[in-house]
Amino acid sequence: MTIQVSPSILSADFAHLAAELQRISMADWAHVDVMDGHFVPNLTLGLPVVEALLAVTPVPLDCHLMIEDPDRWAPAYAEVGAQSVTFHAEAAAAPVRLARELRRHGARAGMALKPATPVEAVTDLLPELDMLLVMTVEPGFGGQSFLDVTLPKIRRARQAIGAAGLEVWLQVDGGVSTRTVERAAEAGADVFVAGSAVYGAEDAAGAITELRALATAACAH
Ligand code: DX5
Ligand code: ZN
Repeated sequence: MTIQVSPSILSADFAHLAAELQRISMADWAHVDVMDGHFVPNLTLGLPVVEALLAVTPVPLDCHLMIEDPDRWAPAYAEVGAQSVTFHAEAAAAPVRLARELRRHGARAGMALKPATPVEAVTDLLPELDMLLVMTVEPGFGGQSFLDVTLPKIRRARQAIGAAGLEVWLQVDGGVSTRTVERAAEAGADVFVAGSAVYGAEDAAGAITELRALATAACAH
């Protein structure tokens, strides 16, 4: 299992996003939180900004769509070249059709679960996915505390992926820091989103390296 770190630019300086992406050029991905003010009570950025970021980013973009009606809006992110597009299970009307469409446009297809959404509801769909995102906070804002109550779900998700013999990545997002990353890794996560823990650090590269090292050591146990 390869451990990957995907810093969330939600905690970056929005006036200097190109430079902020350069600060994390040693990351595996840049996590881009798209919020529509309806699915979550916050509004961030959308397709034109993602398209502009794709032209300057040194790392692939991991787009996390916290939006209503992803069936309608998500494929365009794959079409403009986002390398990974994640929609929410709670919002998608036809998740299988949507995941297939994302893959057809060349993107990795991800599906996200809010803390109260059981993983059992989507285990049958895992073969259609490249990544499952287990939210470790209620989506909407950076800087929240990691919810330990989600750890059993991360474990069950890892078991389901293993039992199906799949290579689906298991991402965690929310409250991931040097204090919590080992717990999530031990439970089975392999892709770690971190916003405030990376962009709040003076040395973003150092923070990424430290998170990756802690998670790698924890999952070796
Ligand atoms: C929250 C977003 C996260 C957020 C994480 O809804 O999906 O990606 O940026 O921020 P931290 O790491 O600060 O909890
Ligand atoms: Zn996110």
